[in-house]
Amino acid sequence: MRIFFTGGSGKAGKHAVAYLRNLGHRVTNIDLAADPAPGGDTLNVDLTDAGQVLNAMSAYADFDELDAKGGKPAYDAVVHFAAIPCIMMRPDNETFRINTMSTYHVIDAAVRLGIGKVIFASSETTYGICFAHGEKKPDYIPVDEDHPTVPHDSYAMSKVANEVCARSFQARSGIDIYGLRINNVIEPHEYAENFPAFMADPATRRRNIFAYIDARDLGQMVDCCLKTDGLGYEVFNVSNDDMSVGLTSDQVIAQFYQGVPQKRDMGPNETFYANDKAKRLVGFKPRHSWRDVLKG
Ligand SMILES: NC(=O)c1ccc[n+]([C@@H]2O[C@H](COP(=O)([O-])OP(=O)(O)OC[C@H]3O[C@@H](n4cnc5c(N)ncnc54)[C@H](O)[C@@H]3O)[C@@H](O)[C@H]2O)c1
Repeated sequence: MRIFFTGGSGKAGKHAVAYLRNLGHRVTNIDLAADPAPGGDTLNVDLTDAGQVLNAMSAYADFDELDAKGGKPAYDAVVHFAAIPCIMMRPDNETFRINTMSTYHVIDAAVRLGIGKVIFASSETTYGICFAHGEKKPDYIPVDEDHPTVPHDSYAMSKVANEVCARSFQARSGIDIYGLRINNVIEPHEYAENFPAFMADPATRRRNIFAYIDARDLGQMVDCCLKTDGLGYEVFNVSNDDMSVGLTSDQVIAQFYQGVPQKRDMGPNETFYANDKAKRLVGFKPRHSWRDVLKG
């Protein structure tokens, strides 16, 4: 597929882009920052500018396409990861403006150009637990996509607003738009760097609902979404199967979730950030775990 990928220079995007390129997809990286991969097609676009977005999405990806048979090729899919990815990186209002306007422009352009598939990065923070002031417990465990999304912070608000826009654009156009409520992204080198501290103090993972998502498995999830057509509008939790701490689920419940209703039985290491829907609807099968790296 010819894919318009925004944010491919970032932490999560660079792994997802590599995953897709390895499968043979042609990926144009759309970002303000340079593509870290040698030889990758990158177009420097400010996504808060609607004109730039519409232009870039209908442009050549590189010089070889000047000779393409049948004229300028069209994109088959849009994957939108670019964003301000956290609170406290910019003033709150700027985070909200950049994330909402860029997502509006990207989906609007895709719909106007007749592109049939948009996958966009939403976030675990929509559930309101991650960036709440003080401790906020989930309404129930495990947290699935039916859990209310009423966050307190501007970043998560921007992601909820992204989902609202996406749902409306899907209703108007009938194309497939899938939102990924991504948990905390972990790059391969971060297991050795960060996980010993998570084992030593599991409370540090409370705001992430004790979950994580391997950056390579996130790439696989994007590919699963590219391969699965006809779902209309859907959102998916994206996480690995196990927790990011060394406790059992019973121990986590005893220490952190006493009194929180439990929706179903859980496996001993099972994530509290339910990924069943992604497995069921698009065939997501996370392959990586911190346990493969931190043996013993
Ligand atoms: N990293 C995580 O743990 C995590 C968790 C949940 C959701 N997410 C979401 O996943 C996506 C990727 O996150 P990340 O950690 O890779 O972030 P990142 O900051 O590493 O990468 C984001 C990229 O977007 C680009 N960008 C920002 N504003 C832009 C603009 N106006 N125009 C063009 N490019 C712009 C940046 O240059 C950067 O390369 C984001 O949407 C983020 O909100 C990330």
